[in-house]
Amino acid sequence: MPDCHRKQNLPLKPLIKWAGGKSRLIAQFLFLFPVKVNFLVEPFFGGGAVFFHLNPTGAIISDKNEELMNFYRVVRDHPVELLADLQRHVNTEEYYYRVRSLDPAQMTSLERASRFLYLNKYGYNGLWRVNSKGIHNVPYGRYKNKKLVHEQDLILVSARLKKTRILCGDFSLALEETEPGMFVYLDPPYHPLSETARFTSYTSDSFGEEEQRRLARAFQNLDQRGCRVMLSNSDTPFIRELYRGYNIVEVKARRAINCKGEGRGLLTELVIRNYH
Ligand SMILES: C[S@@+](CC[C@H](N)C(=O)[O-])C[C@H]1O[C@@H](n2cnc3c(N)ncnc32)[C@H](O)[C@@H]1O
Repeated sequence: MPDCHRKQNLPLKPLIKWAGGKSRLIAQFLFLFPVKVNFLVEPFFGGGAVFFHLNPTGAIISDKNEELMNFYRVVRDHPVELLADLQRHVNTEEYYYRVRSLDPAQMTSLERASRFLYLNKYGYNGLWRVNSKGIHNVPYGRYKNKKLVHEQDLILVSARLKKTRILCGDFSLALEETEPGMFVYLDPPYHPLSETARFTSYTSDSFGEEEQRRLARAFQNLDQRGCRVMLSNSDTPFIRELYRGYNIVEVKARRAINCKGEGRGLLTELVIRNYH
């Protein structure tokens, strides 16, 4: 059997590296997911580690980052054209800064997706960070032998996305589409452990305590409407208090992204669920 057919129903890995990505936590999540997931809703999609692992029958995925969600749409609908376009990129510092300076608003969706993957792979540490004007500002990563993507991985991801609705916007948009029985995984920007540990610039807006409260109300609402809900966040008194009364467990995570070096090493994070 060809390799790509064999892999069609297996868990896949994310195509991109993403701050706060959950790939390394999947092993600890296995016991925390519902036993059976038919339909998944993931409104803070990022790299999509949970979706690619669970391989649900149907899904709605969403994120506020427009370049990110445009990328997934192009991967789903135009994988061959995207692979062809990726061929023109070269991995040099001068070229990286030229691509970084392009204005996505002046480009086609295909060119934007191609630029997105290029900057994600060759930018420093796979970060996608924008300033308050929404302009990408990650420096060149100097990774000499890194491949942009393995063709077969992109084709497999494309096939997996075919059964998926892709939205783009605030988390409330995807939550409007939920129905009883669906599994909702919520992975927002984390509540910072301290003021200096803040990394919330995936998009040009930040995700502060008011946003965390709004999300906790949405969690309650989903619970009342019969969805199964699982949420990740940092272990702070504020988050524990917001979700008091729900099933809270601790997992151990290795934090990699923190410019001051603070918060590196093994940290406790929380997984909060409305089911056992
Ligand atoms: C912790 S990351 C998600 C990581 C993802 N689970 C993974 O495995 O890669 C949080 C995501 O929330 C997105 N985000 C930030 N504010 C948002 C909002 N108000 N609504 C929806 N998504 C938002 C960010 O763009 C980022 O991709």
